Amino acid sequence: AHEPLVLGIETSCDETGIGIVRGRTLLSNTIASSMDEHSRYGGVVPEVAARAHLEALQPSIEAALAEAGSALDLDGPLALTDLDAIAVTSGPGLAGALMVGVGAAKALAVSLDKPLYAVNHLVGHIAADILDAEAGPLEYPTVALLVSGGHTSLLLVRDLTTDVELLGETMDDAAGEAFDKVARILGLPYPGGPEIDRAAVGADPTAIRFPRGLSRASDMEKHRYDFSFSGLKTAVARWIEQQPLRQAQEPDVEWTVPVGEVAASFREAVVDVLVTKALDACARHDVPRLLLGGGVIANRRLREVAIERAAAAGVTVRIPPLSLCTDNGAMIAALASELIMSGRRPSTLAFGADSTLPV
Ligand code: KG4
Ligand code: ZN
Repeated sequence: AHEPLVLGIETSCDETGIGIVRGRTLLSNTIASSMDEHSRYGGVVPEVAARAHLEALQPSIEAALAEAGSALDLDGPLALTDLDAIAVTSGPGLAGALMVGVGAAKALAVSLDKPLYAVNHLVGHIAADILDAEAGPLEYPTVALLVSGGHTSLLLVRDLTTDVELLGETMDDAAGEAFDKVARILGLPYPGGPEIDRAAVGADPTAIRFPRGLSRASDMEKHRYDFSFSGLKTAVARWIEQQPLRQAQEPDVEWTVPVGEVAASFREAVVDVLVTKALDACARHDVPRLLLGGGVIANRRLREVAIERAAAAGVTVRIPPLSLCTDNGAMIAALASELIMSGRRPSTLAFGADSTLPV
């Protein structure tokens, strides 16, 4: 089959990602992040992200074309005119941020007279796995757990291009967002995930029993595959607030917040509920495969627990390289490439950015 040369644009959150693929082969994956600009606010500021995308797009596209040029052994950068299609994330994500990418993609497609594919960001995360050359082809069906600062979703993938079903998602904070908020409570910098991972090293994860959201028997009917992390965040804050009480009970002991134990115990609560629900979905749908994606996959404990418990349950875990797990343009190009190879027609120009686009 013809392997389409596709350029993908991803601007749904704070990463400006431009990726180029040929068929299932990754040619370039450039990522410009505005994370530094958001760090003093403790979270992604939508207007700041949108402006940063606008500034980063042009240089990122040029860098991606240069990278693809060397990957293809050309004398210079790949020419835009050589592309077979343009792909862009149309949602879900931050509306203003998405709009910048969608506008740029339409402008490119119209001026180059190339087909344009609007794709779903979450399905894109799954498509990232296709570019993992060492992993072999993606087998179906598979359960996918996507965890980042913007989303926490559990999906059942029967076919990437035609049949992706959302089983559940977070009812409040995303998993990464919970890491960021708890880090803030602990006085650790943003983004909080890596900080908490570091603080937890060597600390006892069973020191404090924090709640596992939506895990009661009474939650199973409506929210079996859904997540909730805001109660957990509140529990951490409460636990720390009670510090003066503990101090009063033991006046001779100089009491400070045991950051390591809180971090390790909090992380354990998040990891436990993520892995438990993902493997429950595998068991109940009789699916022996679990695909992980999203920036929170960088979490060492999450990888460890997922691999360990999946093995015990007879489930194979796939984790693409981190550069493909975090938001990127290559996964968007990869999904469009699959759509093209499966015969899907391009999108018309009528689509717009859709911050709540369903899978
Ligand atoms: O996928 P990503 O790079 O961007 C989006 O959110 O879309 O994910 C970033 C999120 C942040 O919330 C960050 O705190 C979290 O992933 N994260 C982690 C770790 N590294 C990054 N969370 C837990 N443990 C980590 N090691
Ligand atoms: Zn994402």
